[in-house]
Amino acid sequence: MLNKELEKALNEQILKEAEASFSYLSMAVWCEFKGLEGSARFFYRQSDEEKLHMMKLIGYMLEMDTKPIVPSIQVMTNDYTSVQSIFEKTLTQEQSVTQSIHNLITLANKDNDYATQNFLQWYVSEQREEESMIRKILDKIKLIGEGPMTLYYIDKEMERINQEILSQEGEAAV
Ligand code: FEO
Repeated sequence: MLNKELEKALNEQILKEAEASFSYLSMAVWCEFKGLEGSARFFYRQSDEEKLHMMKLIGYMLEMDTKPIVPSIQVMTNDYTSVQSIFEKTLTQEQSVTQSIHNLITLANKDNDYATQNFLQWYVSEQREEESMIRKILDKIKLIGEGPMTLYYIDKEMERINQEILSQEGEAAV
């Protein structure tokens, strides 16, 4: 079984991943409502990914004979101001998740819990990749410059990024 402090922290991480999943879902909905199909597709996939992160934590706790808490989620905002602001919020959110993963590893180290340290390494890589991808997208949006005339091009770029991610996932599966 996991120690109590670690159990609490892992449950908090489950909540964070669930919040990220629903936050991305609300962003996807906003994008689709605005006719930004490429951006919507990106965030629907991100939402699914975060649910998977949550499920991995739940699975791990059960494997360690510890009962996880399934969190309840507050109503998410569906009122965003721009695509750039959504990606800025995404980056802040991911940086916060990265910090909490690092805190979890510190806790596991303190408890000499090698299994949990090992399990969390997957999240360290995942967070590094996610943060880097969001930074690149933000750079592109800033380069194009967001305005009524450029939203179409931003969304085209998001569609291109979606294709890139799909082909990377395809390569990884081979
Ligand atoms: Fe699972 Fe990107 O936080």
